[in-house]
Amino acid sequence: MTRFYITTPIYYVNDVPHLGHAYTTMVADALARFHRSVGDDTRFLTGTDEHGLKVEQAAAARGLSPNKLADQVVERFRDTWVQMNIANDDFIRTTEPRHKQVVADIWRRIDAAGDIYKGAYEGWYCVSCEAYYGEGDLVEGKKCPVHKREVSWLSEPTYFFKMSRYGERLLEHFEKNPGFVQPEGYKNEVVSFLKSGLRDLSVSRTTFKWGIPVPGDEEHVIYVWLDALTNYMSALGPIGGELHRRYWPATCHLIGKDILKFHAVYWPCMLLSAGLPLPETIFTHGWWTVRGEKISKSMPATRVDPNQLAEDIGVDALRYYLLREVPLGLDGDFTYESLIGRYNAELANDLGNLVSRSLTVAAKFCAGAVPPAHGPLATSGRHGEIAQVARQVIGETEGHLRACAPSRALEAIWRLVREANRYVNDTQPWVLAKDPQRKEELDHSVRIALEALCCAARMVAPVMPKTAEKILALVGMVGARGQEAIARWPVADRFGQELELGAPLGASTILFPRIDEARQAALLERWIPTDARAGEPPAAAKPSPAAEKTSDGVEVTFEEFGRMDLRVARVLSAEPVPKAKKLLVLTVDVGDGTPRQVVAGIAEAFRPEELIGRSVIFLANLKPATIRGVTSQGMILAAGADAVLGLSAVDRDLPPGTRIR
Ligand code: MSP
Repeated sequence: MTRFYITTPIYYVNDVPHLGHAYTTMVADALARFHRSVGDDTRFLTGTDEHGLKVEQAAAARGLSPNKLADQVVERFRDTWVQMNIANDDFIRTTEPRHKQVVADIWRRIDAAGDIYKGAYEGWYCVSCEAYYGEGDLVEGKKCPVHKREVSWLSEPTYFFKMSRYGERLLEHFEKNPGFVQPEGYKNEVVSFLKSGLRDLSVSRTTFKWGIPVPGDEEHVIYVWLDALTNYMSALGPIGGELHRRYWPATCHLIGKDILKFHAVYWPCMLLSAGLPLPETIFTHGWWTVRGEKISKSMPATRVDPNQLAEDIGVDALRYYLLREVPLGLDGDFTYESLIGRYNAELANDLGNLVSRSLTVAAKFCAGAVPPAHGPLATSGRHGEIAQVARQVIGETEGHLRACAPSRALEAIWRLVREANRYVNDTQPWVLAKDPQRKEELDHSVRIALEALCCAARMVAPVMPKTAEKILALVGMVGARGQEAIARWPVADRFGQELELGAPLGASTILFPRIDEARQAALLERWIPTDARAGEPPAAAKPSPAAEKTSDGVEVTFEEFGRMDLRVARVLSAEPVPKAKKLLVLTVDVGDGTPRQVVAGIAEAFRPEELIGRSVIFLANLKPATIRGVTSQGMILAAGADAVLGLSAVDRDLPPGTRIR
């Protein structure tokens, strides 16, 4: 049996769950549910990261012990996951004994491999931040960039992990396993980081105590990332134990792009040293902003509360929106308006209509019970067409979910939903019902509409489990039959034969009541905190007047030109933007360690693969904007006023980030 072990990052307990955490966990949940439905031996893990300075400080600020804070916040996470209908098989806390044992075990293995040595970590230290800074980070002479306070040169004894020994082996692993880090752009980012050479890693601290002690030297606590990453293994019990043998290596670590280096460099190096197999895939997703802004505690408008949204529009609607709106891997922008827009168009209209119309015609013309299909009609004309679409969609959706592309999967399912709505329109059961000679045709078309609905419900179940269950009950799949239908992925060749002849149907119902303008206003009132309601659309969405005016012949001053931060950027990845013929979404390396995502209107002039590795001129300080739901942070310069005629370039190989003046 195929094994599928998927994990989310474990969340810090210094913060309560927000949209970003909910997103990762929902994606992992949907993928786990899908893999269970295709019969894989599935395990899905999430949990909390409870050690480290960050948590210690957050606890102190609230006058609590770190333990107490963790105990409180962990409940918020657990409750949220129940509300979000997350079906995780296990939940790990890094303060649990089972975890601490495995962390100590990994430490000992790394030590036994000769990869731990004692030294001193030196650097400029800011006491307020409790963090070391590099020379280049300091401002105004020798001041910390955050607090603008004098830093001091400190040296802390520390154990180092000889990570530098593993760079080559890890690069080889990347070569032999092209799917190790996905999507491609993130892989390229890690590979170029590895090629620049690895340094040894400081893996213990002495300046605070909230952590797991270093075996044999209680003065030190183990570096929080070594501690945290081990959760993926410690949740399976002792190394070599039954669960470990069954599920390790993990199939997929699903992570946000912020923690890529830890997962794709540190963790594999530790595992190589400890003599343990590496995870199969590290799948990296992008970053959600809220109305163009980064989610942050100090910006109330960006603190989207998933629990509140789920309460108001239903958890399935929220899961649908988050998984459908942005292809996994890309950055996206969350707005309440787009949430409501998709809710109305795709749930209330497309899916909601199919539910109410197919059940209405069944109640009216088929006595509210599943009617018989009529064999000879199944392959003919309109009836044959929809069956073909359904069979295709089942295969395609399965492929997308196997490839961790839930947005594409939902797009495919909606092709069937829309096709089924058209089918009801085209076959017109209400007309067929007027002619007793056409009873068989009437029954068949009602049956196929119901079958299409049932099929769509089963495919949508990993993303919208409650909705799927409701729909299946409505089409007469109740009790064990309903459970079974959800638990098993539909088989393409069985399309049209899944329902039970004569099974009583539910009454036509409105699953997703339309959100009209008045309700929308009321919801926005509730969702957007009063102190964040400026009445203005987000700055990023507004074109700047200057940009509108600019045309040939307008002079700019030297200062104006100087405000443009032009840089050499290297293209790491390029992909089409779904349903936008002219657009490509690129990630580019601008030399600051954080690749940028940009949407560029160059798809008609370049194929994505032609762009990877090219150096272009990049406007780095253009205000971020959202284009077709995809975040764009900058602009690639190209030649051509309307059509793109060529791409900007520099005439020699210069490192990304080089300034252009
Ligand atoms: N504790 C570490 C992870 C250790 S894993 C061994 C950590 N925790 S966190 O609480 O900060 O959560 C990080 C994860 O939350 C991100 O990797 C991402 O999966 C998710 N997100 C948090 N904010 C997010 C967005 N704004 N957008 C998308 N996902 C985000 O880092």
